[in-house]
Amino acid sequence: MNKIQKLIEENVFWLIVLTVLTVSVAMFVEILPLMFSKSVTQPVTGVKPYTALQLAGRDIYVREGCYNCHSQMIRPFRAETERYGHYSVGGESVYDHPFQWGSKRTGPDLARVGGRYSDTWHKAHLMNPRDVVPESNMPAFPWLAANKVDAAGIPARMKALRTVGVPYSDAEIAAAEKEATGKTEMEAVIAYLQGLGLALKDKR
Ligand code: HEC
Repeated sequence: MNKIQKLIEENVFWLIVLTVLTVSVAMFVEILPLMFSKSVTQPVTGVKPYTALQLAGRDIYVREGCYNCHSQMIRPFRAETERYGHYSVGGESVYDHPFQWGSKRTGPDLARVGGRYSDTWHKAHLMNPRDVVPESNMPAFPWLAANKVDAAGIPARMKALRTVGVPYSDAEIAAAEKEATGKTEMEAVIAYLQGLGLALKDKR
């Protein structure tokens, strides 16, 4: 065994340091450049921050665990783009904290579900999926229609998002509570779903 090999393999300190360095290579070559790449840090034309009601809907989507069955990430493969439309790009998710990508697909991908169905369809579907898709095994979420949105909490959430780069104006934050007051959680989730993926919807 030569000297260097002995040093590395028999000295725990160097073994740890060099292992960490080797493992970090992936971070340096793959993740770090992405942090500075415009294509993933700048919004795609047409992508806007969520409205107050959509934001409330997004939080309910996360609370209800919709992401456990639905990804929001269309892969760049023909079978995917034929079914869902243009593949997802990073610039569409810049205002999502946390983003909703993933690969869990018990149900279909929802990245471009905006505009695919009417509000009435979504409501019927969320009240009881079997009413519109008889073979569906998606759970029903009837309480969304009975619960009112927590409108008073929205301005604080918008401010928190602003600190991580979502460009909400003071006027938008000031108007947020009023926009969502009296709305049901059902209306909020539907507003969120109907806005998903519109920026690249008609592109192929
Ligand atoms: C246990 C898994 C599961 C959960 C949790 C779930 N879904 Fe689904 N979802 C499905 C399945 C399966 C389908 C396909 C059958 C159907 O359309 O009902 C589906 C379909 C859908 C569709 C229609 C998509 C399309 O392109 O046809 C929408 C919209 C949807 N779900 C929204 C939601 C929302 C919003 C939530 C959370 C409130 C949610 N889902 C939670 C399994 C799930």
